[in-house]
Amino acid sequence: MSKRPISAELYERAKAVMPGGNTRVTVYMKPHPYYADHGQGCRITDVDGIERLDFTNNYNSLIHGHAHPDVIAAVGAQLQRGSAFPMASETEIDLAEHLCARAPSFNHVRFCNSGSEAVMFALKAARAHTGKPKIAKCEGSYHGSYDFAEVSLDSTPATWGNAEPKSVAYASGTPQSVLDEVVVIPFNKPKEAERILRAHTKELACVLVDLMPNRGGLIPATPDFVEMLKRVREDTGMLIVLDEVITLRLAYEGAQSLYDLRADLTALGKIIGGGFPVGAVAGSAAVMAVFDPRQDKTPLPHSGTFNANPVTMVAGLTAMRLLTRDEITRLGKLGDKARTGVAAAMKSVGMAGQVTGLGSLFRIHVHDRPLSDYRSMLMMADEKAILAGIVGYMRDHGFFVNERGVCSLSTPMGDAEIDAFLDCFKDALAAVPDQTQAAD
Ligand SMILES: Cc1ncc(COP(=O)(O)O)c(C=O)c1O
Repeated sequence: MSKRPISAELYERAKAVMPGGNTRVTVYMKPHPYYADHGQGCRITDVDGIERLDFTNNYNSLIHGHAHPDVIAAVGAQLQRGSAFPMASETEIDLAEHLCARAPSFNHVRFCNSGSEAVMFALKAARAHTGKPKIAKCEGSYHGSYDFAEVSLDSTPATWGNAEPKSVAYASGTPQSVLDEVVVIPFNKPKEAERILRAHTKELACVLVDLMPNRGGLIPATPDFVEMLKRVREDTGMLIVLDEVITLRLAYEGAQSLYDLRADLTALGKIIGGGFPVGAVAGSAAVMAVFDPRQDKTPLPHSGTFNANPVTMVAGLTAMRLLTRDEITRLGKLGDKARTGVAAAMKSVGMAGQVTGLGSLFRIHVHDRPLSDYRSMLMMADEKAILAGIVGYMRDHGFFVNERGVCSLSTPMGDAEIDAFLDCFKDALAAVPDQTQAAD
């Protein structure tokens, strides 16, 4: 008998109409997913009536938690007036103006409906602007589901090659031609990465980088890695495309401001939609001109039925206005407290472990090998079991933590929520040996 019988029942229905009963692999888990009933502030309640503090925030997209009253009011008012039109609307100008005022590298913006789309259009824009076919990306970094951006997302020692990282397919059926157009570089290894980038400059439109890739370990880029990217751009004209779908929250102007970096193009998503589906490409006016439809032949035509729909636009504007510099600083301090507390808890029980992340994001690692990139982050089988035990324990005791140990904070949180998280984490460590054996 499942601990969550109503979720189990729903999953039975789901299996009849969706492959594996699932439409989003991140929410899938054995023996069945959690089914949400409602969320309020930093709490989420599942259909089995269990309330948890939400440290996942719909995979780092709900910076103000659930059902923020200002977002509800803005969306409610917009819904009364219609949700999507075959016309442009003032709401898209409002959000574009807000975003362009936030970061110096955002001269112009185009909206789409997901972070995956944003990355796809940023890469297409880089190709259209430079006339070059290839893109470079870092091994192990997740950028959504565009074929080119997926390359080498889950390379393993068996596939990643001996010397330079090999381009490895993520999804079955990925054409060889896609792999041939993607140059894979190691994250945070500036010498090796620079050599690879320079070997391909004739064909490289851009390098796609997440400055703190969450699947790659939530390890911040080192300053010398970023300096290398700037140097190669300067020398070769290769564009820098940043994926700030998650990292925008790290500073008012996004993570790029922490490195004094101005990206040529930045892919945005998640928090800029205020809880609704969204993506955007922002960048220099010169590069963004490829989207300009005033030309006889637009270099990169870009359309989408729900692009800049006014519901997303008003929700996003409300959420972004609420994400002030002060709130980012306050969340950063809470993040520091969580990181320090998690590391101290592991140390106090003599457990090998460490914490990565910055600002309102942190990731729990259950080994103490030096962390610099995707390869160094990978876990052994027994370590995977320990992490699964900790996550399972915390989910059973009132905390929704993602399966990789990546946690994000939301503005409804304060010291009390971090203290409660740390108490539960300590209990989880004490219970880990049992938990690794436990079945749902
Ligand atoms: C860094 C990064 N880029 C892109 C994406 C894709 O965004 P979406 O899920 O909205 O397509 C994600 C999603 O988790 C992400 O974390």
